[in-house]
Amino acid sequence: MWNAEIYNRYGKERIQPSVDLVARIKDMKFQRILDVGCGTGMSTEPLVSAWESAEIIGVDLSKEMLEKAREILPTVTFIQRDCSKPLFDMGTFDLLFSNAFVQWLPNQEDFISNAFSMLNENGIFATQIPLFEEMPANDRISLSDQWEDIVPV
Ligand SMILES: C[S@@+](CC[C@H](N)C(=O)[O-])C[C@H]1O[C@@H](n2cnc3c(N)ncnc32)[C@H](O)[C@@H]1O
Repeated sequence: MWNAEIYNRYGKERIQPSVDLVARIKDMKFQRILDVGCGTGMSTEPLVSAWESAEIIGVDLSKEMLEKAREILPTVTFIQRDCSKPLFDMGTFDLLFSNAFVQWLPNQEDFISNAFSMLNENGIFATQIPLFEEMPANDRISLSDQWEDIVPV
């Protein structure tokens, strides 16, 4: 159970990884952006600042986190979804963004594989995963040709 008030108490620290990740790709152009596991919208905010005219959608499982996100970013579409399941019905995106979310998934490999299927041509999947070295997906990625385009930073 996520508590939006407690989560946002450390907002300055929590937003920084998303700000840093956006800074790495800010020169690219995106029209359609999905923030997966967007929480209270803290990871969505830097996306809105960087790509003002893009269509930006945030998805998260927690109703409470999404309510806060809608308060903070009324112009963004926020949708309640279980993102451990395929999101193919949402269409394809130029940027699939995700900060501090993938580590919560039991099926990280499926999620990452599906994420690549949701990209438009030249689209990118930008994700920040705390303690990635300790995730099950880390072993799989280092072994897989399918994910040869992944560049850990
Ligand atoms: C650490 S927060 C990150 C929130 C936001 N990305 C940020 O940077 O502040 C993790 C978020 O993942 C969401 N989450 C966990 N499991 C999920 C699932 N299966 N589907 C969708 N969201 C999920 C939680 O509700 C929570 O908002």
